[in-house]
Amino acid sequence: MDDPRFLALSAGLAILILASVRKALHNSKLDAIPIVGSTGFLTSFWDGYKFFANAPDLIQAGYTQYPEGIFRVARFSYWLVVVSHPKFVKEVGGAPEHVLSFHEGVEDGLPVKEVVGRPIIENPYHQHTIRTSLTRNLHARFPDVRDEIACAFEEVLQLDESEWKSLPALHTVMAVVARVSNRLFVGLPLCRNQTYLWNNVQFALDVIRSGQKVALFPNFLRPLVGPFISGKDKSFAVALQTLGPLVAERLAKEKELGPDWPGKPNDLISWLLEDAQDEERTVPALVLRVLSTNFAAIHTSSMAFTQALFDLTTHPQHLLPMREEAEHVVANEGWTKAALNSMVKIDSFLRESQRLNGNGAVSMIRKVVSNDGFRFSDGTVLPKGSFVCAAARAIHYDASNYKNPAEFDGFRFARERAEHAATHDLTQDVFKRQMISTAGDFLPFGTGKHACPGRFFAATELKAMLAHVVINYDLKAEVEGVRPPDNIFGLGISPNPSAKVRFRKRTDL
Ligand code: HEM
Ligand SMILES: *[C@@H]1O[C@H](CO)[C@@H](O)[C@H](O)[C@H]1NC(C)=O
Repeated sequence: MDDPRFLALSAGLAILILASVRKALHNSKLDAIPIVGSTGFLTSFWDGYKFFANAPDLIQAGYTQYPEGIFRVARFSYWLVVVSHPKFVKEVGGAPEHVLSFHEGVEDGLPVKEVVGRPIIENPYHQHTIRTSLTRNLHARFPDVRDEIACAFEEVLQLDESEWKSLPALHTVMAVVARVSNRLFVGLPLCRNQTYLWNNVQFALDVIRSGQKVALFPNFLRPLVGPFISGKDKSFAVALQTLGPLVAERLAKEKELGPDWPGKPNDLISWLLEDAQDEERTVPALVLRVLSTNFAAIHTSSMAFTQALFDLTTHPQHLLPMREEAEHVVANEGWTKAALNSMVKIDSFLRESQRLNGNGAVSMIRKVVSNDGFRFSDGTVLPKGSFVCAAARAIHYDASNYKNPAEFDGFRFARERAEHAATHDLTQDVFKRQMISTAGDFLPFGTGKHACPGRFFAATELKAMLAHVVINYDLKAEVEGVRPPDNIFGLGISPNPSAKVRFRKRTDL
């Protein structure tokens, strides 16, 4: 550390970074957009730092000041433009990739190219596979998903007869979600292999941790520091070891018997193979796609379900109505994917939980990549290179979008759907208030061209999990009436990672 060359190098780097920050923040083309927070060079740099602790408050302040429009806040080395009005959100969601880039937007917060792999960004074909084949097969594969939910809860909760047991909510939920998702992705028996499962969880944590570090560096330095910081190699090696043989077997079968060999499993590996071209048809390339799908699926779904458990235990009056609904539907229709459509209260509850506890202060971060910039309908122009996003949380908490917006009202969407159905109001599509439907004022899955392609699976999985939980268990909060505080880091908001929830087997059966 005392090495003068090291000190000189550090000083040089600091100057380079400051210079690039200064250049980026003094982008006069953004002058027309009001600034929220401080405006001076050093203070805005300071705001960039503070951002890690108070981003949601800052975005809320901007939203309150400019509810109809567009404002900007300082990040480290650039301005983040935030849009408030659902109308502008739709314009962002509708813009094509060559104008507003989803991938370049993601890349800024999480340098996927450096810490996951270039092909994931440059040829994101797995997104298509998820949106089409995976979603289409949810009906056919539902019995497996349902079976895994029942077994996983039984084994993960390990409850003794009618004794209350405190369990760490997020960890417990993740153990179930990882298993259930992988029943669909890779099937039995691998979906129960603990080495394989926790490695998927670990891969995502490694990527996020190293991604956050790499993201602190300006773009031009990232390819240099990436390989040193990235921790993915170890988890990738474990994935190759656990999942690799299965993928190799599928490739061999296909080579021998053709693409539609009899008995071909109906799972993510097969669906990916139907879409993968050329250099993507190798064991490491396919393993990386399955890992990336797990990455997109496990943490998001686990956080959503954990938040739902916190909501359920702090608003316990919702438990019995959902239990009644689930029992009634299952008695009439059995456990099928179609039966989930009749679980309107459960759907509403999850949607409400996502509305209030979606995973960030903003969503839909995009980078302007077209040379002409991006023009909103009110004439505001964002120059090439700017970053833009939607004030998701503030939009969800706005009284002009939702009545009593800060109140958790688990069945608000179920009531809306019932009201529309009763009045045969065809202008208000009843499907619009389902968990999977996105809108300018409902952004947990984003909206528009890049709206989460996995949300149909997520909704199926989470609804079936919640129905299973309310039918089979009683739940209560660790401390009655107290919702564990969220974790806030930068723009991210996530459920308290250590908080517990109490479970017991139902005693009234
Ligand atoms: C409750 C659970 C989930 C939440 C809250 C969620 C949320 C999101 C959000 C906010 C985006 C970005 C949208 C945008 O910027 O416009 C996204 C993208 C994505 N999600 Fe999900 N997601 C969930 C579950 C899943 C699952 C289960 C899968 C896979 C089966 C998945 C796969 C993806 C993929 C591949 C993308 C990239 C989309 C693209 O580039 O067009 N997600 N998700
Ligand atoms: C899980 O997979 C690993 C690696 O392939 C293997 O060594 C281990 O025996 C498996 N565990 C179980 C319980 O099957």
